[in-house]
Amino acid sequence: MAEPKKLYIKTYGCQMNVYDSERMAEAMGSAGYTEVSSADEADMILLNTCHIREKAAEKVYSELGRFRDLKDAKPDLKIGVAGCVAQAEGAEIMRRQPLVDLVVGPQSYHRLPQMEAKLRQGGTALDTDFPEESKFEKLKRRPKAPRGPAAFLTVQEGCDKFCAFCVVPYTRGAEASRPAARVIDEAKDLVERGVREITLLGQNVNAYHGAGPKGDDWSLARLIWALNDIDGLERIRFTTSHPNDMGEDLIEAHGTCAKLMPYLHLPVQSGSDRILKRMNRSHTADSYIRLIERIRAARPDLLLSGDFIVGFPEETEADFQATLDLIEEVRYGQAYSFKYSTRPGTPAAERVQVDGAEATERLQRLQALLTRQQREIQQAMVGRDLDVLLERAGRQPGQMVGKSQYLHAVHVTAPDAAPGDMARVRVQESGANSLGGVLIGA
Ligand code: SAH
Ligand code: SF4
Ligand code: F3S
Repeated sequence: MAEPKKLYIKTYGCQMNVYDSERMAEAMGSAGYTEVSSADEADMILLNTCHIREKAAEKVYSELGRFRDLKDAKPDLKIGVAGCVAQAEGAEIMRRQPLVDLVVGPQSYHRLPQMEAKLRQGGTALDTDFPEESKFEKLKRRPKAPRGPAAFLTVQEGCDKFCAFCVVPYTRGAEASRPAARVIDEAKDLVERGVREITLLGQNVNAYHGAGPKGDDWSLARLIWALNDIDGLERIRFTTSHPNDMGEDLIEAHGTCAKLMPYLHLPVQSGSDRILKRMNRSHTADSYIRLIERIRAARPDLLLSGDFIVGFPEETEADFQATLDLIEEVRYGQAYSFKYSTRPGTPAAERVQVDGAEATERLQRLQALLTRQQREIQQAMVGRDLDVLLERAGRQPGQMVGKSQYLHAVHVTAPDAAPGDMARVRVQESGANSLGGVLIGA
């Protein structure tokens, strides 16, 4: 047998790209590639890219430039760009960076093995189609290799919401959901390979409407209830959700479905109705707060996470203050906040932009508040007992790191434990981004 060729994949952007990179590595496995962890030894390099903000997209070009020496030393080396920059810029990438041999979009990467064969014949390959066939149906079953305790599983893709700032509807296409039976099969397969916690992924995962086994329409809640029945699967999470797709059955599941974890990432972006309207978010600050109240009524200990954009075109100090007020009212245990980035082709790109220095200053104030909330909520865990799914060895001997039900990283001394074990941990300290504790009952 020929020696396996080596594939190096670097992943940027959201969890969906993490999932896609795994699937690409598996697809290339059938073309004789094994995955390696450094670009230096690779026969093929794939950058799985993100287009969400300007910085993310530009990073790709600086990274590509660094491969020049590698390619000079090994002329056979193939370099590919996948993901959302590939979708947004297509052939332009090869014009701007001639080192690139292959460009493949997020909906067509099941064709990678054929594209690679084309490269071996000395050509270049470009595929940014939104094909009729679903890549999921074309991708081979995942190999039976053992897996870590936590895994991502994409159930929904694309977005029909068209927020005025966002490229995702253009790079990922229209909303589409995988059939429930396929998701359940893939989940069972992951569990057989050692997975204990599955995070269901979608750009708007709670807009999931997949065909059920009898051809009926399944909501995300219905899918979660079906996954809840899988023996050996202990935890279910989902991300990212949109406030307008938070159905009654999903809210209820947070109170009644034992394996659904008490953590919810529910981006609001802004607390000003004027800005929300201009963002085309089709919800108000008040409707978001009422929604949170209903979810917390179903699950009082829910830990809430969010996304925020500051400096959206025309945002005034009063609009920004409304965002701070909303945060004070909601209280977030975790949050991601960004300075607005102008994205070509989106409606907001045409509008009057907020001064950059002003936006930076607002971002700092916003992050100070969010960090304070995160610290307070984390600090309140000290003295409490949490359920921790141990994932990997920590830095100290005998130490393990895992995730609490609320998604905190937790360090614990557990010399006899193995990844995949569930531990009851008494929290003793709260650090910047993690908790530390001791095993109880051990
Ligand atoms: N589908 C998800 C998130 C998609 S992108 C949702 O609707 O919540 C992740 C986050 O990136 C967004 O929630 C938003 O806060 C941020 N984002 C998207 N476009 C942006 C832009 N042009 N500038 C700054 N942040 C942006
Ligand atoms: Fe982007 Fe809005 Fe769709 Fe989220 S809901 S992916 S922010 S357009
Ligand atoms: Fe980025 Fe595409 Fe995800 S733009 S955030 S990688 S959907």
